[in-house]
Amino acid sequence: MANVVVVGAQWGDEGKGKIVDWLSERADVIARFQGGHNAGHTLVIGGEVFKLNALPSGVVRGGKLSVIGNGVVLDPWHLVKEIAAIREQGVEITPETLMVAENTPLILPFHGELDRAREAQNSVARIGTTGRGIGPCYEDKVGRRVIRVADLGDNDTLELRVDRALVHHNALRAGLGLDPINRDALLESLRAIAPEILQYAAPVWKAMNEARRAGKRILFEGAQGSLLDADFGTYPYVTSSNVIAGQAATGTGMGPGAIDFVLGIVKAYTTRVGEGPFPTELHDDDGQRLGERGREFGTVTGRKRRCGWFDAVLVRQTCAISGVNGIALTKLDVLDGFETLRICTGYEIDGETYDYLPTAAAVQAKVRPVYEEMPGWQESTAGARSWADLPAEAIKYVRRIEELIQCPVAMLSTSPERDDTILVTDPFED
Ligand code: GDP
Ligand code: IMO
Ligand code: MG
Repeated sequence: MANVVVVGAQWGDEGKGKIVDWLSERADVIARFQGGHNAGHTLVIGGEVFKLNALPSGVVRGGKLSVIGNGVVLDPWHLVKEIAAIREQGVEITPETLMVAENTPLILPFHGELDRAREAQNSVARIGTTGRGIGPCYEDKVGRRVIRVADLGDNDTLELRVDRALVHHNALRAGLGLDPINRDALLESLRAIAPEILQYAAPVWKAMNEARRAGKRILFEGAQGSLLDADFGTYPYVTSSNVIAGQAATGTGMGPGAIDFVLGIVKAYTTRVGEGPFPTELHDDDGQRLGERGREFGTVTGRKRRCGWFDAVLVRQTCAISGVNGIALTKLDVLDGFETLRICTGYEIDGETYDYLPTAAAVQAKVRPVYEEMPGWQESTAGARSWADLPAEAIKYVRRIEELIQCPVAMLSTSPERDDTILVTDPFED
């Protein structure tokens, strides 16, 4: 039985939600293993739009187990709101269908405040975060002062944990000119939210390993994208978690052998939200057109996404780092009608050619993309459900991408709708 990990292979928003939703029909368990409600995953099912931040995209199917693993950072108030909103759309969520790891760190209001205060300081500090407290919460996790789901179950522990966090945060807040945290009010609101979260709390590592032994199919849903990975991304313009495939095991409590197939989600061009390097970024009409046709506005913050040509150098690199076995290429339809398409095949830095993105920021700043041109197509690929529906030029474009990134296309997506998807290789059967 194969277990599949879905990871974003660019800077996020590649269409992971749509692909996870589609694949979840074949899965029994769908698990988030990193990130938090900085993620915005969009599903369109029969015209109805679902936007998920913290919940795994499998929840809408019903009859599946959705899991929030220990590698995630969880805002309890946001989770309760998200569950209510998704229930409004007719989705059933119960402790039988949703499980939250007991050792998941909690994002508290002061994490968001700190995140936003830092971002507001000046342009040197700014990362362009989602302002949702993701970074500060992960800092507290490794700083051994975070409050975890299980701590909500005992008042004495909760007080101890809060005091531990406040020693650090009140000192930091003083330096930033923020008021000290109101300890009693914080404890009160934690006690109030506790039962709502604790009903889903469980030893996820145990449930996951039992599911595996029972031959259940597990689908791991990554958030963000590999170029936002805290180690391998465009540091410091990254998120604060590891987002690459190896994290699926650590972030749920399974061995690395639990992963059989890594599916990289790749947009047919490139986008990025927030600050940081972007070698193929376009500031011209083509960039404008990609943004308009692709409706490139952030799901979480509503910010305009930066757009550019497909960068094969970066995707080859991220596919290697995650051990991607096949990609799902999304938003091909957005390229309909372009006369000419460009693909970045290498970088020129100080007159030398590179086939990867070097780590040093000063070197990255000098990158000049080397492009290859390909003829576009005038026909519509929107809603195509088989290879036969694709124009020859579109097929050539896809084949060229496969060649350049050294990875085959397993799936192709041609619209936001669930069923406008072409399956080439079933990741669960490969
Ligand atoms: P995620 O964060 O990776 O789940 O991606 P987002 O949901 O943030 O952004 C992807 C956007 O593209 C969403 O609005 C999707 O509905 C949409 N989308 C996904 N696949 C396709 C596709 O093949 N074609 C088009 N036109 N839109 C798509
Ligand atoms: P999904 O799962 C795109 C970006 C932010 C910022 C950086 C750090 O929808 O693909 P953070 O709030 O995480 O500390 O912000 O990471 N970012 C995303 N960009 N898609 C996402 O998630 C993102 N999650 C975070 O814009 O540049
Ligand atoms: Mg998104």
